[in-house]
Amino acid sequence: MGFDPYVIREDFPILKKEINGKSLVYFDNAATTQKPKQVVEAIRDYYFNYNSNVLRSINTLSSQATELYIESRKKIARFIGAGEEEIVFTKNATEGLNSLTEIIPKLLGRKLTVLTSIMEHHSNLLPWRRMVSEKGGRLIVVGMNEDYTVNVEEIEKNLENGCDVLTIVHVSNVLGTMNPVKELCKLAHKHGSLFVIDAAQSIPHIPFDVSEIEPDFVAFSGHKMLGPTGIGVLYVRKKFVEKIEPWDLGGGMVKTVTLEDQVYEDVPFRFEAGTPNVEGVIGLATAVDYLSRIGVSNIAKHEADLVKHLMEGFDEKIITVHGPLDSTKHMGIVSFNVKGIHPHDVAQMLDADGIMVRSGALCAEPLVNALGVNAVVRVSFYLYNTLEEVDRFHESLRKLRGFI
Ligand code: ALA
Repeated sequence: MGFDPYVIREDFPILKKEINGKSLVYFDNAATTQKPKQVVEAIRDYYFNYNSNVLRSINTLSSQATELYIESRKKIARFIGAGEEEIVFTKNATEGLNSLTEIIPKLLGRKLTVLTSIMEHHSNLLPWRRMVSEKGGRLIVVGMNEDYTVNVEEIEKNLENGCDVLTIVHVSNVLGTMNPVKELCKLAHKHGSLFVIDAAQSIPHIPFDVSEIEPDFVAFSGHKMLGPTGIGVLYVRKKFVEKIEPWDLGGGMVKTVTLEDQVYEDVPFRFEAGTPNVEGVIGLATAVDYLSRIGVSNIAKHEADLVKHLMEGFDEKIITVHGPLDSTKHMGIVSFNVKGIHPHDVAQMLDADGIMVRSGALCAEPLVNALGVNAVVRVSFYLYNTLEEVDRFHESLRKLRGFI
């Protein structure tokens, strides 16, 4: 059967909800996505039938929970073309990126020169800035091209001068534009630098395969891809998993401990101290099953249709779209301003019609400021959104004309 958002919507009970007397239109998917019944049911099933700690006790319940947990890691690994030992569970993409500022200085054993871009979410800027201020080293922030992707020439020039880490957002959470990560990865490796991808806004929306891109580290979040909150992944390339040091210590990550010393668990378990987020891992694996069944490339195609319809409906006399005017360059995300009306007021007026969007600096203030504004309105789509909802959005926006 072909891709049908109306069939998909049946799996998302929340989409039947009314807000302010209007049926809900959820266009805030870059912030977090809704959860299908299958994910909620898998978590319920875990708590009702398997709830137990994992990787510790030898009792039957714990063995069953452990089996589910291990199987889930395999599914999540397969989804991005990784080996299971390359998948480290975190709380979210932010935690993954923060932990790299502990992992990489120890791995390389020196102060780091880190190259990042103006397109980053705060989570791929602030941790590196703190690392440099506390441990020394240097943070270089490169600019953006006219096509709203990172300036590859500027990156290459800096790499030639010697960098330790190039860390770049794949799909911008503000603009929806996609950076050429495969090319950047090749460049970074050619010049002896590690390559890190913030894939929080790409893995949920477009096919992503680490065996094709060959990055060293990738961070993403489960809640932006139909999974629960509180679970994310830090992908660590196989050649580094045995070389990096655990950054959190405690239970579950050691084989033996004496008062003088310890022997760490095998990878990746040595990187997951304490009781893990078992329900999160099971929920994320179920989300990955769901996305695989639908097909991520079908989702990307559907989002492209939605973006096209959205952008075609904008009245350019009152709307300024940020980013390329070519709708195919926005991976399901479009930010804009309405002439003379503050983004928060626009968001509130849309809300009155049951339409949920995000407004503000979107945790990417330097980028939003570089666009010449201090706040934007953002529409971000996912698989369950429809062209009819986009029409509802435009209808609501047309009412704003009266205020201008
Ligand atoms: N990073 C998320 C967003 O862009 C929360 O809204």
